[in-house]
Amino acid sequence: MCGIIGFVGREQAAPVLLDGLARMEYRGYDSAGIAVRSEARGLQVRKTKGRLQALSDLVHGGADVEGTLGIGHTRWATHGEPSDVNAHPHVSESGNIALVHNGIIENYLEIKEFLLCHGVTFTSETDSEVVAQLLEFHYNECHNMLEAVGRVLRRIEGSYALGIICSDYPNALIAARKDSPLILGYGEMGNFIASDVTAIIKYTRDVVYMEDREIAVVTAEGVDVFTSDMTPVVKEHHQVDWDVTAAEKGGYPHFMFKEIMEQPEAIRRTISPRIREGRVVLDDVRFTAEDMEKFSRIFIVACGSSYHVGVVSKYNWQRLLRRSVEVELASEFRYSDPLVDEHTLVVVISQSGETLDTMAAMREAKRRGARTLAIVNVVGSSIAREADDVLYTWAGPEIAVATTKAYSTQLILMDLLGLYLADLLGTVEKAEYDSVLTQLQALPDQMQRFLDGFEDVKYFASRYFNHNSVFYIGRNLDYAMGLEGSLKLKEISYIHSEAYASGELKHGTISLIEPGTLVVALGTHEALFDKAMSNVVEVKARGAEVLALTTEPLRERMEKIADATIVVPRTHPILQPSLGVVALQLFAYYVALQRGCDIDKPRNLAKSVTVE
Ligand code: F6R
Repeated sequence: MCGIIGFVGREQAAPVLLDGLARMEYRGYDSAGIAVRSEARGLQVRKTKGRLQALSDLVHGGADVEGTLGIGHTRWATHGEPSDVNAHPHVSESGNIALVHNGIIENYLEIKEFLLCHGVTFTSETDSEVVAQLLEFHYNECHNMLEAVGRVLRRIEGSYALGIICSDYPNALIAARKDSPLILGYGEMGNFIASDVTAIIKYTRDVVYMEDREIAVVTAEGVDVFTSDMTPVVKEHHQVDWDVTAAEKGGYPHFMFKEIMEQPEAIRRTISPRIREGRVVLDDVRFTAEDMEKFSRIFIVACGSSYHVGVVSKYNWQRLLRRSVEVELASEFRYSDPLVDEHTLVVVISQSGETLDTMAAMREAKRRGARTLAIVNVVGSSIAREADDVLYTWAGPEIAVATTKAYSTQLILMDLLGLYLADLLGTVEKAEYDSVLTQLQALPDQMQRFLDGFEDVKYFASRYFNHNSVFYIGRNLDYAMGLEGSLKLKEISYIHSEAYASGELKHGTISLIEPGTLVVALGTHEALFDKAMSNVVEVKARGAEVLALTTEPLRERMEKIADATIVVPRTHPILQPSLGVVALQLFAYYVALQRGCDIDKPRNLAKSVTVE
């Protein structure tokens, strides 16, 4: 995700900023920039799409920009594609104010309209530039930078970590945060702001964590922190006790683990800007209730884990939309002479937005007249550009080859979209709609609680990592979740594994069950729990070792049959796979760890599959 660093001190700022940005490269980014101020040259802003090396080359390692105060940013696009103009820092119209921003401003369109009416000209498509322009607007009103920052913070909604410099305020950095991390660093050579300790750990271990809605004024001499009404706050200092080498992956041993742990925050980002006043609001979906009525067929098309999201969504959308929903593998769909015309909605799902089969399937659907809607993580990617409508997952960059947080955010976004479409069609009861929405908003915290204590999953992985073949069985949404659990295990641990709909076992697969075979029995779907249990009894009777996954209310019944049981929090049935899958990701992760596999880069696999 985006990274922020700011420095003010007794040394040249640019080399410090470039070094700090380089230390945050592990977070992933698509463009980078710095703004440095000096008395002689004023505000100098340099930014570029692409690698940090390109930025460093642009400023000759920092030699081309002069000044001891500056801000830097690595951007991962959320609003507007990766480009030089959309890169941060963003500068106000007069060139007086430069700003870097992490997070998402939810009401930026409304503010942009307001500023456009006041004659402000915008150069980028970002929500962040809106903050820079709004700041200048208020500064022109009150001629007091801190007062202007306060006015901006009272007006913007969403999440932000902000680093600001202003020509009229020449010796200070201003920082503010809400729902996006920002720390203050106290160093020998000067003081810092950073979104990530890794950016500044080379220079200082003495840090202060900013709280939501606090504002900091950072100078070479010291740091003052205020509440939103400008009351001074005395902050507790912390000593960072880990070193630079541990910082490579933000302190996590693998990107996959880091990304698993980031899921509550990632789905919060996906959800929160899209729920307003108890309703799902999808500004980027531009078709109407009448359009929706005309769609007689709905296809969900994708590859791999994204396809597995489609399988879950097929069950959920049929329930919510009371329409037939078909889910197809993109590589099959494109060559199947699909029954698609102008009365068809084709939803494609892709983390990378570059998967060739998904792209080709979408083009084929468009050629036949379908309306296409893409669920994509990478902003400005090919699929995002070509789809009729696009919804971004806002998961942040996913670096591990095996997807985790992208899968989870795709799933959540499909739930939101299902609710939205059902609302357009009037096919969902208000009580059901409200219940899903309420539990959706509680989901990030539930997921966090599970991630705060999963010692049992780790233990079961150490108990079962030696198996050569694993079956995941379940019914309905549990089956759909099992497809993803099984794929996670096979791709990173190289253990052969298959997911089956439990009801299918007797039609052939059960012949593979022999004493000691590991069966992961998924029993979180309450409506079919008894049926699922009878299948578990069948495999137990043939000697299988059963590792079960269930929810608290079902735990007791499950424990009577299974050899080991993992318990995840309970939520609305539609959302239950989102919690269950996290346990399956962790199980796969720890099994692969026990087997000494290259978790982040499994053999033969690539992050983005741009060939057939
Ligand atoms: C598995 C995985 C793949 C991708 C698939 C589609 O962990 O990551 O199965 O889901 O290659 O990729 P996208 O979503 O980029 O189209």
